[in-house]
Amino acid sequence: MSYLNTSLALIFGIGLFFFITRSLSRKKLPPGPRGLPLIGNAHQVPTETPWISFRQWSKHYGDIIYIDLAGQPTLIINSRKIASDLMDKRSSIYSDRPSTEMIKLCGSDSIITLQQYGDDWKKQRRMVAPNFAQSYVPNYYELQEKQTAYLVRNVLQDPATLASKIKLTTYGYSVGSKEDVFLKNGLVAIDNFSVITTPGAFLVDLIPILASSIHLLYLRTQSMPVKFLPRWMPGSDFLTYAEECKRQLLQTCYDPYLWWKENHNAGRALQPNMISNITLKAEGKLTTEDEKQALWASLTMLGGGLDTAQAEIDIVIGKDRLPSINDRPDLPYVRSVIAESLRWAPALPLCVPHVLSQEDIYNGYSLPKGTMVMANIWAMFHDPENYPDPMTFKPERFEGDDVEMEKISIVFGFGRRICPGRYFAEGTLFSAITTFLATCDILPGLDGAGREVMPEAKYSSGIISIPEEFPIRVKARSSRAAALLAEATSTAYE
Ligand code: HEM
Repeated sequence: MSYLNTSLALIFGIGLFFFITRSLSRKKLPPGPRGLPLIGNAHQVPTETPWISFRQWSKHYGDIIYIDLAGQPTLIINSRKIASDLMDKRSSIYSDRPSTEMIKLCGSDSIITLQQYGDDWKKQRRMVAPNFAQSYVPNYYELQEKQTAYLVRNVLQDPATLASKIKLTTYGYSVGSKEDVFLKNGLVAIDNFSVITTPGAFLVDLIPILASSIHLLYLRTQSMPVKFLPRWMPGSDFLTYAEECKRQLLQTCYDPYLWWKENHNAGRALQPNMISNITLKAEGKLTTEDEKQALWASLTMLGGGLDTAQAEIDIVIGKDRLPSINDRPDLPYVRSVIAESLRWAPALPLCVPHVLSQEDIYNGYSLPKGTMVMANIWAMFHDPENYPDPMTFKPERFEGDDVEMEKISIVFGFGRRICPGRYFAEGTLFSAITTFLATCDILPGLDGAGREVMPEAKYSSGIISIPEEFPIRVKARSSRAAALLAEATSTAYE
């Protein structure tokens, strides 16, 4: 045998050895659809309402599904029990977040929601959590109720102002109209957040090497940031988008803070608000680093069977006052309407992805370190075993039972990453829904011929699923109801 043949035989032998040992040592991953080389299953994930398709997949693969998004190991969990077993009970290793190229390019990796599990995240979480703890939120009730009265009054005047209830808890700023620039910036930031966090939305996330190989090809240096790429270069448009997102994010973050700085000492910022609380705790001396973390933490505070419910409100509250958040225990049907709204159309159908920070074993399956975990909350809420006739909006299904309603709390996520704004959000929802129902009749919009048009339930497909606009008519239930709203909004701030 020639020297060449011996060498080839040796290389072949070594290759075969590695192939066999790798195959033998390959751990058992959960089932999932077969993918293609390099891109894995990326082409199979639908861009429209992926949570519905993931639920259909579970008929073939079960409730825990493994896919590969161009090298990113990804777990889809369609069952509440599995989500709780992993993301609640093993939360110490399931609390990291994905860090995609696009999130980094947009400068969003400093926001608490997208931050890696580490010291900066812990610091921001410690700033946010006490301001929205269950024991602290009653301090906001008066503010929430007053703002609700403004909201309902404004919607009665112009139903298009429905979106004006954001931000005040962070900066003590009250949004006046739908043209408010802080509100507009905030809504754009929410849209951008939804787009950049959608797994696989950008080629650069599926093929991160794209960023570094472009570096090498065009810049011949690894140290030069990718943002210096020439814009004429094909495939570089994601950079223009990222730059715009970053500029927008900084504006959304800093402008209201500058407003707070100007207005806090003059007593014009509404109380309580998170930035004032954090400053007070630091005895007015925030370090630059604290200030930075507080701003990033505050950024995520953007948020914010009807006849039967109205009958319940009329009986319990009467017609001589507006509802208060403290009426909650006495209005089980209204609580059921809220629980059903959260179930029927959860705001974050796939939660915010978590990431597994070390290898794990579950039910005999091996889950690699770095796996992105998507909890399909929508599927959990549309499981006919737990919620018969799941596509129908039916508050009666809860029969006013608080234990059943509490199960909806997974809409706020899992483990150490659970939504810190949960109790505040519940108060806001209750206040808004009860005040609307107590004072208004909400009717379908009219078409050109004056016929009522029942809206189609259509939602956007990003991480945050927002209903598409639809026309409604809102009428005061009585002159007494309109007078109560006028009275509640006649004094103090707007
Ligand atoms: C109905 C309203 C709301 C819903 C459905 C909701 C839902 C969620 C969900 C699903 C997550 C991800 C949890 C996880 O990763 O497991 C989250 C995170 C978060 N939410 Fe909310 N949320 C709401 C309102 C609010 C409000 C009003 C605030 C602030 C006052 C807030 C602040 C946050 C923050 C800061 C995070 C990031 C937590 C972290 O990553 O550590 N949310 N929310």
